Amino acid sequence: MTYNRNKNNTLKVGTFFSGIGSPEKALDRLKNEGVIKDYKVEFFSEIDKNAIKSYCAIHNVSENLNLGNIVDIQGKNLPYCDLWIGGFPCQDISCAGKMKGFNLKSSTRSSLGWEMIRLLKEVKEKPKYVIFENVAMITSKKFKNTLELFKKDLIDIGYTLYDDVLCASDFGIPQQRKRYFLIAILDKRNDFSFPEPKENKLVLKDFLENDIDEKYYLSNDIYEIDNEDDKLIFTNKNNENKKYKIDFDKFLTGGVCGKDMACKFNQSSRLHSELGNAPTITASNTADNCKIVIGGSFSICE
Ligand SMILES: C[S@@+](CC[C@H](N)C(=O)[O-])C[C@H]1O[C@@H](n2cnc3c(N)ncnc32)[C@H](O)[C@@H]1O
Repeated sequence: MTYNRNKNNTLKVGTFFSGIGSPEKALDRLKNEGVIKDYKVEFFSEIDKNAIKSYCAIHNVSENLNLGNIVDIQGKNLPYCDLWIGGFPCQDISCAGKMKGFNLKSSTRSSLGWEMIRLLKEVKEKPKYVIFENVAMITSKKFKNTLELFKKDLIDIGYTLYDDVLCASDFGIPQQRKRYFLIAILDKRNDFSFPEPKENKLVLKDFLENDIDEKYYLSNDIYEIDNEDDKLIFTNKNNENKKYKIDFDKFLTGGVCGKDMACKFNQSSRLHSELGNAPTITASNTADNCKIVIGGSFSICE
């Protein structure tokens, strides 16, 4: 973005659906890299009590900055910000949910994104920049019309829009995480282009901790290891339904390399090689979410 034109100013920021504030972490990084001089959180908006506590601890700000439920916020009361950010709820857009959509007035959680547009209409002085973020599925045929209406409203308010789907693995993070970004800029003289994908040499292994309790591994004491059609089969000695199948060749090339045979959820049943990318971790079914195959020594039953 071209914010470095105002490099001497502190960027005033307000976020909605703030969660634990990952965009604020990105702003920390931009500050460390000298792209912005500094930034200040003028307000955030979050309803989850654990997220609020985490947000305040991570960003060292007071809970008084939390405006709470976006539905209750009055635009005319908002302090001026240069930048608004909102990664609005994705439950009704994501293929992991029921895909009810985010039509205006549909009362789905994802339709709360329109509340930011309401506030943009109500606020005394509009932010120069607004960033919306959601799952890539928002660009699919099913949601295209709603997204077009959403964008049209922003254009009618005076913003110029830029949007794209970016994948984390193209930007130095070994994770298959595709996200839609919609950048709205008030000043028409400002131009913007998304960063080009970069070659990523890092794999999941580069981010894994070394000292992990033994209980998180499949051990030879509890699992019997067999070889079947070039696949390694780990079977629980006390419950033979608990079984993991691993393709060693796929393990070496990275990506999905096996299956948790007892897991009934297709996505969660996949085993991922530490030599490739991590999957997107879903918000549901978290205890059974991401299984990683790491290299190591084991003995095969004869
Ligand atoms: C997709 S998450 C956003 C995560 C965030 N970008 C982060 O970095 O952690 C959506 C967030 O919106 C919050 N939320 C849901 N309904 C809300 C509402 N009515 N007002 C404010 N926040 C809400 C949820 O609690 C959740 O933390």
